[in-house]
Amino acid sequence: MNKPISSFDQPKNHLKDHVYLITGATGGLGRETSLALAKLGATVILTARNEHKLDALYDQIEQEGYPTPAIIPFDLEQKDDEIYKQLIQSIYNEFKRLDGIVHAACHMGVIGPIGSQDGSQWQKAQQVNVNSAAMLSKVCLPLLQQSKHASISFISDSSARQSKAYWGAYGVSKVAIECFSSMLADELDATTVVSNVFIPGPCILPIRKKTHPGEEEVNLSTSSELASSLVNVILSEESGQFFSHQTG
Ligand SMILES: NC(=O)c1ccc[n+]([C@@H]2O[C@H](COP(=O)([O-])OP(=O)(O)OC[C@H]3O[C@@H](n4cnc5c(N)ncnc54)[C@H](OP(=O)(O)O)[C@@H]3O)[C@@H](O)[C@H]2O)c1
Repeated sequence: MNKPISSFDQPKNHLKDHVYLITGATGGLGRETSLALAKLGATVILTARNEHKLDALYDQIEQEGYPTPAIIPFDLEQKDDEIYKQLIQSIYNEFKRLDGIVHAACHMGVIGPIGSQDGSQWQKAQQVNVNSAAMLSKVCLPLLQQSKHASISFISDSSARQSKAYWGAYGVSKVAIECFSSMLADELDATTVVSNVFIPGPCILPIRKKTHPGEEEVNLSTSSELASSLVNVILSEESGQFFSHQTG
């Protein structure tokens, strides 16, 4: 069962001294969510591959007068456990705390019939959307568990999750990550760490433009409305939920 969640403002400085890791921080949702968390006083650790885009977001956060962020260029196609451990070690060395991860990175792969699925694109989608998110969550857990309230937030897709024709590797990856989030929530039941899924729905995000080319933007949620809802998911006390963005 999905739960509706809408954008409402949290008090200023609500997240002072909190530290969040955002993957896909240069993308439509990741970027806006990084800004929304920083606006609430959080220190955001921005990861993605494109260093120019990471630098531009860093500069914007500094110019707004929000807490100084950190940048960790990181390719989620990497598979070696050690590299993930080094990433969290560097976060521990610099911040000594972590209050949440937002898994906003995404690789869409090929949308089309199974016969058109390219093997390397299929594997890339599973690696970026599922495997790396699981590995990253795993290595972050010990540090997250030291927080009074920590969250792991995964992003699904309202269309891709319906197990319909042509959604290919992207669809499979979204159903898989929903399953992983629920498993994690169950495992973390007696801890301070929650695990939830956020479902943007019809929206103005780069991936939606690719899956629904030519769609009229009227009545679609904006990335800033989505980020505001996602912040409420990140701060939710509930776990094991599927939160669908609702306008208004
Ligand atoms: N209908 C719906 O419910 C709906 C609609 C749209 C989107 N969504 C979901 O919302 C989420 C965000 O979508 P979006 O449109 O904001 O995505 P986007 O703009 O395409 O951003 C994707 C991000 O992932 C990063 N990334 C891709 N491959 C990577 C890799 N190998 N290593 C590290 N980072 C990588 C990209 O950065 P670099 O290229 O710099 O690495 C970028 O920051 C996705 O999970 C998507 O499924 C749902």
